[in-house]
Amino acid sequence: MDIEFVAASAALPAKSALARVVFEGAALEGASAQAAAASRFTGAKGQTLDILAPAGVDAARLVLVGAGKKDTYDAMGAEHAAASAYAAVKASGLTSLRIELPNGGGKNAARAALGVRLASYRFDKYRTKEAEEKKPSVIKTQIVTPDVDAALADFAPLAALADAVSFTRDLVSEPPNVLYPAEFARRVKALESLGLDVEILGEPEMMKLGMGSLLGVGQGSIRESQLAVIKWNGAADKSAKPIAFIGKGVCFDTGGISIKPADGMEDMKWDMGGAGAVAGLMHVLAGRKAKVNAVGILGLVENMPDGNAQRPGDVVTSMSGQTIEIINTDAEGRLVLADAIWYCQDRFKPKFMVDLATLTGAIIIALGNDYAGCYANDEELGANLIAAATKEGEPLWRMPLPAQYDKNIDSMIADVKNTGGRPGGSITAALFIQRFTNGVPWAHLDIASTAWKKPSSVPTIPEGATGFGVRLLNSMVQEKYEG
Ligand code: BES
Ligand code: MN
Ligand code: ZN
Repeated sequence: MDIEFVAASAALPAKSALARVVFEGAALEGASAQAAAASRFTGAKGQTLDILAPAGVDAARLVLVGAGKKDTYDAMGAEHAAASAYAAVKASGLTSLRIELPNGGGKNAARAALGVRLASYRFDKYRTKEAEEKKPSVIKTQIVTPDVDAALADFAPLAALADAVSFTRDLVSEPPNVLYPAEFARRVKALESLGLDVEILGEPEMMKLGMGSLLGVGQGSIRESQLAVIKWNGAADKSAKPIAFIGKGVCFDTGGISIKPADGMEDMKWDMGGAGAVAGLMHVLAGRKAKVNAVGILGLVENMPDGNAQRPGDVVTSMSGQTIEIINTDAEGRLVLADAIWYCQDRFKPKFMVDLATLTGAIIIALGNDYAGCYANDEELGANLIAAATKEGEPLWRMPLPAQYDKNIDSMIADVKNTGGRPGGSITAALFIQRFTNGVPWAHLDIASTAWKKPSSVPTIPEGATGFGVRLLNSMVQEKYEG
């Protein structure tokens, strides 16, 4: 999507739609008033009304977009209204869209542009014969603003964010025959062009480090397991302790020997959504040259049944030295994280660690598809995450780490076992991970509920891979950990 900021007086391109964002109950004039009177358009949030060949307007089509009540309108309102405007005209056959925000645009032009960038994301790499009339036709969006230079400056970091979210959505959308661990690692290595430093560890290196927990998950796959270590050193003090993010990157989760049912198993290509989000976060930190030292660590594996696969009953030794009894080979994400997190704190001594993982079906049962679960052993970190999540529209709900449930993952023959039974399944998974944090301030986001959407419920998140986590973490870093 080509984005431009223009003055209200700029000539409209040919084949343009004009979207006018209006408040609920605002007085409309002429054709707009007539059209509204003949419909149920009130200006409520998310409503749109199409007016073809409107009198007194240069555009081929005018679209009224509801922004809701004037006193609750804010930057997020502008972003969502712009996204709704794009959705209303994207397949209209017109090739450009101009958006007029309320109050002449005010300070919200850049946020509107972000809304259009996020809403226009599409993964169409594998469509070879989509009908022309179904393809999006709008390729350019103009946002009207009183101050083009200010809008361009405001948009620079948001464009970096949109690029990063698209990168994550692409990774998560790729089919599992294309995006296996080594291919994921290659795509992350290519981010060195943004100024990131990327190391890839293969199985021999991980063997040397004693990562028996992560390697056990991948041992049934013909695809080599990988650990990607992504570094961004943007702080003025290059030796300042980094902040750290760790992602579960199970490129496909069959369940292993504890195999999943066939129905819906294709969804398990999304099981690298945590690693995808961490890669996207590093992308945006580099893209906007964030003044922070950060590391991103991705545990990349494929969980397959095979003659060489791990069995229920196996005991593996993790890098921490703790032994783990495998009860269910489908509880593999925590096994990957156990070694990735231990490695992270051991090597980098970070200020804090946040892991992201599509970890449990139980979090979907607990929270539904709009909230991800947030566990934290550090109050400040937990509060910062919740605040950023709320602000950015990627909601988190704080979950407990009750000490009395910890015994549910004690094993009869090893230090810990990898499942704690059905009750509180997301909680016992978090308690398992906590045993590998070595007392470092840590938070865990169980994003099994939010890594993808079917169908979409927010105009800036099209159906499919959401990129959940990139935005909230970028915002938290920007507000609390830079400078
Ligand atoms: N990747 C799944 C979790 C998941 C399920 C993500 C549904 C998205 C949608 C994870 O590896 C898994 O299989 N978890 C098991 C754990 C159980 C065996 C203790 C689960 O949630 O059923
Ligand atoms: Mn699993
Ligand atoms: Zn999984």
